[in-house]
Amino acid sequence: MKPQPTLTTERLTLRPLQATDAATVQALAGDYRIAAMTENIPHPYIDGMAESWIETLKPGWDKRALATFAVCLSDYEKQIGCCGLIINRKHNRGSLGYWIGADYWGNGYCTEAATELIAFGFNELKLHRIEAQHLSKNPASGAVMRKIGMTHEATFRQYTLKEERYEDMEMYSIFTGTVHAGK
Ligand SMILES: CC(C)(COP(=O)(O)OP(=O)(O)OC[C@H]1O[C@@H](n2cnc3c(N)ncnc32)[C@H](O)[C@@H]1OP(=O)(O)O)[C@@H](O)C(=O)NCCC(=O)NCCS
Repeated sequence: MKPQPTLTTERLTLRPLQATDAATVQALAGDYRIAAMTENIPHPYIDGMAESWIETLKPGWDKRALATFAVCLSDYEKQIGCCGLIINRKHNRGSLGYWIGADYWGNGYCTEAATELIAFGFNELKLHRIEAQHLSKNPASGAVMRKIGMTHEATFRQYTLKEERYEDMEMYSIFTGTVHAGK
């Protein structure tokens, strides 16, 4: 079976996660500022959670259900975040997700990683549609979606129950043939 590749951009390396990344994932994703803006990242991010999550990724890739990458600064071989696609093969659809450690925000890293990932999704995984959604109260993520060429489709009202509040969610998408990123 074809192993999950490593992708490179101008400043970043996107590579499969390994068990040894667990401590970094826990430290970065354990920051409440990450959990506050995501649907599924727990808080507190306790010992063992990162290990359990990483264990699901290779089987997920092998079934072509997941394509999840550590986002690393190429110059320092340092992981700064994660990005990935959840793949629905029946409909050739991918759902894009990402987070970047708070110390690294505002440098264009997420935009650079997500641009590469959607090119990979279309060119290598042969997806037709890639969608992404963000909490309405998270404009930074919406900015990334627009910068990578996605189009806003809808607001899903009171879509997510988060910290005992129903939150609105913004849905974006992009289709094959509308992206020219990648190498
Ligand atoms: C969303 C997130 C991944 C962005 O990562 P990043 O590397 O800082 O993203 P980029 O630098 O590529 O782009 C961020 C954009 O958001 C903009 N932005 C930041 N805060 C903003 C705000 N409060 N309102 C509007 N735009 C904002 C930045 O100005 C930038 O746009 P610009 O380049 O046009 O100026 C990061 O903030 C994060 O991990 N947040 C917590 C987890 C999360 O939200 N994940 C996504 C769930 S859908």
